[in-house]
Amino acid sequence: MTSHYPVPQSFLSNAFLDKQRYETLYQQATLSPETFWAEQAEQFIDWQTPWESVLQGDFSDGRIKWFSGATLNVSYNCIDRHLPQHANRTAFIWENNEGDTCKTISYQDLHDHVCRLANALTSLGVAKGDRVCIYMPMIPEAAFAMLACARIGAVHSVIFGGFSPAAIASRIDDANAKCVITADYGLRGSKTIPLKHNVDKALADNDCVESVLVVKHVGQDIQWQQQRDHWYHELVDAQASDCEPTWVEANHPLFILYTSGSTGTPKGISHRTGGYLLYATMTHHYVFDYHPDDIYWCGADVGWITGHSYLVYGPLANCATSVMFEGTPTYPTPARYWQVIDKHKVTIFYTAPTALRALRREGDDYVTQSDRSSLRLLGSVGEPINPDTWEWYQRVVGGNRCAIVDTWWQTETGGIILSPLLGQLEMTPGSVGKPLFGVAIDVVTPEGKPVATNETGLLVLKNPWPGLAQTVHGNHQRFIETYLTSFPGCYETGDEALCDEAGNYWIIGRVADELNVAGHRIGTAEVENSLVQHPGVAEAAVVGFPHEIKGQGIYAFITLQANQQGSETLKQSIKQHIADHLSPIAKPDVIQWANALPKTRSGKIMRRILRKIVTGNTDDLGDISTLADESVVAQLKADIIK
Ligand code: WT7
Repeated sequence: MTSHYPVPQSFLSNAFLDKQRYETLYQQATLSPETFWAEQAEQFIDWQTPWESVLQGDFSDGRIKWFSGATLNVSYNCIDRHLPQHANRTAFIWENNEGDTCKTISYQDLHDHVCRLANALTSLGVAKGDRVCIYMPMIPEAAFAMLACARIGAVHSVIFGGFSPAAIASRIDDANAKCVITADYGLRGSKTIPLKHNVDKALADNDCVESVLVVKHVGQDIQWQQQRDHWYHELVDAQASDCEPTWVEANHPLFILYTSGSTGTPKGISHRTGGYLLYATMTHHYVFDYHPDDIYWCGADVGWITGHSYLVYGPLANCATSVMFEGTPTYPTPARYWQVIDKHKVTIFYTAPTALRALRREGDDYVTQSDRSSLRLLGSVGEPINPDTWEWYQRVVGGNRCAIVDTWWQTETGGIILSPLLGQLEMTPGSVGKPLFGVAIDVVTPEGKPVATNETGLLVLKNPWPGLAQTVHGNHQRFIETYLTSFPGCYETGDEALCDEAGNYWIIGRVADELNVAGHRIGTAEVENSLVQHPGVAEAAVVGFPHEIKGQGIYAFITLQANQQGSETLKQSIKQHIADHLSPIAKPDVIQWANALPKTRSGKIMRRILRKIVTGNTDDLGDISTLADESVVAQLKADIIK
């Protein structure tokens, strides 16, 4: 039975959207999309020069332009335009890992920091269109770096601070970056992460990066390369605190962000300037119902799209006051989140189900010892939130006083596509609600036919919207093949979903060969490719399995080289190999030795069968007529690790 919860009256009485307003906007967007988007663009963004056309192109070849001919600057929209009236308003409240330091950065401070860094980048020879990789802890300089790039028209590519040297190297190479901005070390809970050391290793065989800018954050020793490395404080503090923004055309790239796919190397998702900023800003305003007196906290790392759209660009363009948090939910104790909420009187809180599940496991006392009466809206993102966890979030964290938004979107979509509270009076735990205005959604069969109500199918988007990425960096063909080919005329999300009789959508998960581990999208191919680089491993296949905290865990079947013996030490060494070469988040939870893997006669690993073995669903293995050797399955079943 699906349960429903009323949206609290206190929320509704002051919300930007009521049912009628949502429907009006939705209809305007549907009937006359270009007029609708032009109006939104006037309302949310300051343009230096106007556009010649609102929308050009369509999904047939994916060469889409938004606001063609218009010029703007993202850092101007996020900072300068607020200064005449709000120079002293707080942009960021930075809360450090230990909880003993907190910095307040006003919009004026932000302006000065960003301009100095922009001037420093220019002094290093970084110019419009050049790529800059940012590999940083959650410190204000990470946001300064993104905005400084935007100020001079350089294209940033943030690499999550949890990635290892090989993953950093491939991203830097693919982006052909000229400069890297990093810190000496990062802090996450009790861990110290050697960021600069990782960059050094990543750059060992590199020939595109000319300079590395290093923030002295922790102050422990690092290696130094005289010609290449620069201390951030030495270079940046000496610069002038103003810098004329570089006005760029609306379709100039703002950033690249790498995301895993089911095959091949990670894709450099490239977002345009104007459409992206408009979409992030508009959705931040409506979905979070952001009002000027709110204190907003998005817990995501800047290394992910959520950090881009809803920690940096959307909130700043709306002149919001945000908490930026360096630490982890459980350090020094599992009460940390709730203490930060009380300390800064947070009203809007946005996090991921995996964090909520981990905190819930620690018991309610950590939560209930705090006040949390400032909260009015709670958000969730990144993976399906199970109704149980939703109810805990609502009752224990929100004290039944808050509205909850479970927001569905992707790196590629630039901003939120589906969300509850769009004029609704009820919340349905587990459902991601309805489409934002201006997006048209369908759930279809593999042949592209719409499915019936309550039937599962593939989620597609039928019209371009300004937030959609413009290409895969350096490989437009891959963009077309991945997103625009299977369902001609539509954007394919790669998610399975259904729509219920109330018009609410439910997300089932990624369709194939992609995992969502603690909210991180990980391609099985990426993990397997890295596993086989371990000297002991001959062959590997990984599948997901239900994991209490992480949503999905990684189960690896490994065939060892003939001279190797399976042992606990070897398992540890393989896990460490993944942590070192890919990322600690991609470490397999379980490793099972396999003499052979189930393969088709043409040699393809049948992961479908492995998934069934891992989840104990072996009564019906489906069509196994193409399986080369059936005895393999029985052996794998017998050896399963529970
Ligand atoms: C994939 C996108 C959206 C920013 C963070 C992740 C899954 C995302 C939800 C949700 C169920 C969700 C989807 C999607 N996902 N939000 N609210 N409910 N699933 O961005 O790394 O590009 O991952 O995350 O499977 O396709 P991403």
